[in-house]
Amino acid sequence: MLKTPYILTISNRKGGVGKTTVSVNVAAELAALGHRVLLVDLDSQGHCAVGLGVTVAIGEPTVHDIFINPDVKLAKTIKETVFANLALSPANQLFEHGSGVRDEFCLARALADEEIKNRFDVVIIDTPPSLDILLINALVAANSVLVPYVPHHLSYEGVRQLMRVLFKVMSGANPSLKILGFLPIMVAQHIRQHRIINAEVSRQFGAHRVMPGIRNDIRLAEAFSVGKPVRNYASRCRGANDFSALAKSLSAVLDANSA
Ligand SMILES: Nc1ncnc2c1ncn2[C@@H]1O[C@H](COP(=O)(O)OP(=O)(O)OP(=O)(O)O)[C@@H](O)[C@H]1O
Ligand SMILES: [Mg+2]
Repeated sequence: MLKTPYILTISNRKGGVGKTTVSVNVAAELAALGHRVLLVDLDSQGHCAVGLGVTVAIGEPTVHDIFINPDVKLAKTIKETVFANLALSPANQLFEHGSGVRDEFCLARALADEEIKNRFDVVIIDTPPSLDILLINALVAANSVLVPYVPHHLSYEGVRQLMRVLFKVMSGANPSLKILGFLPIMVAQHIRQHRIINAEVSRQFGAHRVMPGIRNDIRLAEAFSVGKPVRNYASRCRGANDFSALAKSLSAVLDANSA
């Protein structure tokens, strides 16, 4: 029997908290560790393609096609990247969120395809902040969810809003969905608000679920402008070190899952 890829959804109901930065860089780090990675971009902003230097022409197949016509094979939408072991199912920048089929199992079915099982060890799903059928699909399809948050009040509100959606999915369509962790982004321990919010997330959801964060590093933003993951842009910067450490801990989860 074919091994099923581990499916990790990256989500927060707040915009601009690092979901895409985490998706692209975790995908790249896991690929560099030898995992065969598929990055799926559900956000029609299409920033995963930007981060990996992939060009998507108007009319080319995208992951959003499966929500318009569920007979479309996800494998047909996949583009290789210049980075070994890393492929992308890109977003359609013209897809209108809220349009398409209402089926919450669409992505789960598409990922269960034999070709996907054969080609990949891990699937990372980047999500839009909006509460729509695409976010539900990403949570229904996943083994676990990783929640990046900037330690500010509104980002924490986004975490709380996501948790309500998550518990609904866990008590219905995907009872085995796990919370992999909460990942502070742009952390700086000298900022009092960061310490307060991180303590609040620990108190509310369990200190063991709050991961070592990703520090503030402008190199992470610059890397998008050259279409590269940070490890290929500035391999020794703070951001690259933090993502490398994060990916090593995730890799251990993947190895345990496939054992
Ligand atoms: N650790 C970091 N240090 C500095 N800048 C960062 C860091 N993480 C992300 N950024 C920058 O913050 C901005 C928002 O990040 P990103 O696009 O990844 O967030 P997002 O949650 O995917 O946003 P959206 O909700 O719009 O999809 C980007 O300009 C990104 O380059
Ligand atoms: Mg994004």
